[in-house]
Amino acid sequence: MTRTTRDLILAFMLASFVLIVCLQAGGGAPTPAPPGIPDPGQFVGWALPFTKLLTDLSAVLVIGFLVAVVFLVPSTGDDVEGLSVQAVRIASRWAIVWSIASVALFFLTASDIFGEPLSKLSWAYTFGGRGLASVSLGRAILLQALVAAVVAIAARWTLGVRPLAGILGLSLGAMAPIALTGHAASSGSHDLATTSLLLHLVGVTLWVGGLAALGWIAIRGSKRLEAAVTRFSTLAVWAFVIVGVSGVVNAAVRLGSFDEVFGSSYGRLVLAKLAALAVLGTFGYRQRKRIVAAGSGFARLAFSELFVMAATIGLAVALSRTPTPVGTDTLNTPVEDLLGGPLPAAPTALRLLWGFSGNGVGLAVVGLGTALYLRGVLSMRQRGDDWPVGRTISWLVGMLIIAWATFGGLGVYSHVLFSAHMASHMMLSMVAPIFLVLGAPMTLALRTLPGPRQAGEISSRSLLLSFLHSRFSRFITNPLVGPLLFVGSLYGLYFTGIFETLMSSHWGHGVMELHFLAVGTLYYYVLIGIDPSPKALAPIVRFGMLMVTIPFHAFFAIAVMSSNTVFAGSYFRELHRPYLTDLLHDQYLGGGMAWAMGEIPLVLVMGAILVQWFRSDSRDARRFDRAESRSGDSDLEAYNARLRDLAEHGKRRDP
Ligand code: HEM
Repeated sequence: MTRTTRDLILAFMLASFVLIVCLQAGGGAPTPAPPGIPDPGQFVGWALPFTKLLTDLSAVLVIGFLVAVVFLVPSTGDDVEGLSVQAVRIASRWAIVWSIASVALFFLTASDIFGEPLSKLSWAYTFGGRGLASVSLGRAILLQALVAAVVAIAARWTLGVRPLAGILGLSLGAMAPIALTGHAASSGSHDLATTSLLLHLVGVTLWVGGLAALGWIAIRGSKRLEAAVTRFSTLAVWAFVIVGVSGVVNAAVRLGSFDEVFGSSYGRLVLAKLAALAVLGTFGYRQRKRIVAAGSGFARLAFSELFVMAATIGLAVALSRTPTPVGTDTLNTPVEDLLGGPLPAAPTALRLLWGFSGNGVGLAVVGLGTALYLRGVLSMRQRGDDWPVGRTISWLVGMLIIAWATFGGLGVYSHVLFSAHMASHMMLSMVAPIFLVLGAPMTLALRTLPGPRQAGEISSRSLLLSFLHSRFSRFITNPLVGPLLFVGSLYGLYFTGIFETLMSSHWGHGVMELHFLAVGTLYYYVLIGIDPSPKALAPIVRFGMLMVTIPFHAFFAIAVMSSNTVFAGSYFRELHRPYLTDLLHDQYLGGGMAWAMGEIPLVLVMGAILVQWFRSDSRDARRFDRAESRSGDSDLEAYNARLRDLAEHGKRRDP
């Protein structure tokens, strides 16, 4: 048996041991159901958490080995080579395990939810009309199984660093379904619970998986290990912070109050996780000290750390099976179910200004966007390079507007009032992006992302550059595509049933907010962006883009104001709000918001384009003058020479 296999089995056994102990201690262990209550049986009761453990551990290994070959281990060309080839094969094999374990998890979950032993589990309970596959939990697990299967096949067929980066992105995306299972699926603050768990899982898989892959490379004694470990150290610091913050946020949603931290078994398990994170932090600190001192002993520290991580994952799965103090019955009314919490009180200026809601998507975008940008500025400063403070302020203003429109006062009412929703929409797509693109995030990324460590290596900076020059980027930054997406999504969303579908689900609302932000940022990136873009557009073309957009946007606002149909009518009617009860009037207000908040930024941008136009013209004129002064007035010279030729010709013809 190889050392790797032995260590893997030991890690799984340790994680399983911790899982059993914590399930017993926390009250999550399966118990026979009282007579008359459907009971899936002890086998399912225990097989389910173990299968969940296996899905989590296999996901960690797939993502870990992929992140190692794409970002950590230096390569010398478009394809990975040497040990990295084996690492890709290992990722592919574990993706198969991940997929099969997810399928098993589906049937075990169906058996658990319907209380039917596996032997009696029929089509009706699984894929039938009312089976597990008809609800988001079941669909999430099946989607995870499918994505894992695609990753297994794709990783089998390619060794290209760029395609592998894509496969890594896909595997990380497969974390979303997992975030929708466990406790996050079934209680209040759904949006915050799922987003924080998603970030938590992404952080955990990159951190634990990356270290596991480096441990595997260390056993093989590769020369490229130190370079990989140095790069991993930065990733580990980010993962440590993201895992800690997202874990605490997720735990806070489940615990409901501080008393439950010590007062409940769930709380005590969370404390154990905090302790585990502290231990892992100490390991990390010692690793960084060792790197700085160029000392040896990476493998010894790494393997002790990996065993603590395996035990923590066992603890985490037990936590996801332990009853939470904030039970699953907190949403008592259909309105609370729809909103994922209580209906906010009637809006006042103060509430609109200072309100707060646990909007996970907004918190994640603003938290990560601010941290990454400021980290970039800090690296520039540490290198002694300048970064215009105006750009930083502009970026932070953009982040502030997003914060207000998603988890701030406006965000609170964007779920319950069409007018507030439209104002939030306009803030996310029309106003915040102006400040974001003037913050030049791409330029900052290109100047601070790690570059190649050796000739030919595909670094994260070169990956971003190749994305910026890709056919896809050229297509979406085409002057026709931006306005089309921008205006098209307005009509496509509100004048079809899509708006109601997205408003009625938590993740749907999050997707809508991300869409507004993305489409708005793309539009302004092409229009007034200062970052490098695949094709620099002449001011006249950008002016044209604006001229095309303004009337369509104004017409949209008028169409909303004059519509006699309530958009997402059954959703807003189901809210039974005791304020602004006239839905059409509220919609009229929303149309007015779209007009005011739409047109004003566009006019401001028109001004900005005219200024940029004037500036580029005067720059051209100055350049022309400089060229003229350097080479004399070549045009005039040429013209005079021509006249001389003509005169000469005339003389010859008619002496
Ligand atoms: C500050 C420290 C941490 C806290 C407060 C924390 C908290 C949480 C919470 C509340 C959940 C959701 C459980 C549920 O569904 O109810 C969770 C899930 C999870 N945590 Fe942590 N965590 C922490 C650190 C870690 C660390 C260090 C690791 C791994 C090394 C980890 C791995 C996981 C995994 C794998 C899950 C998903 C379990 C599943 O549903 O399958 N966590 N964590």
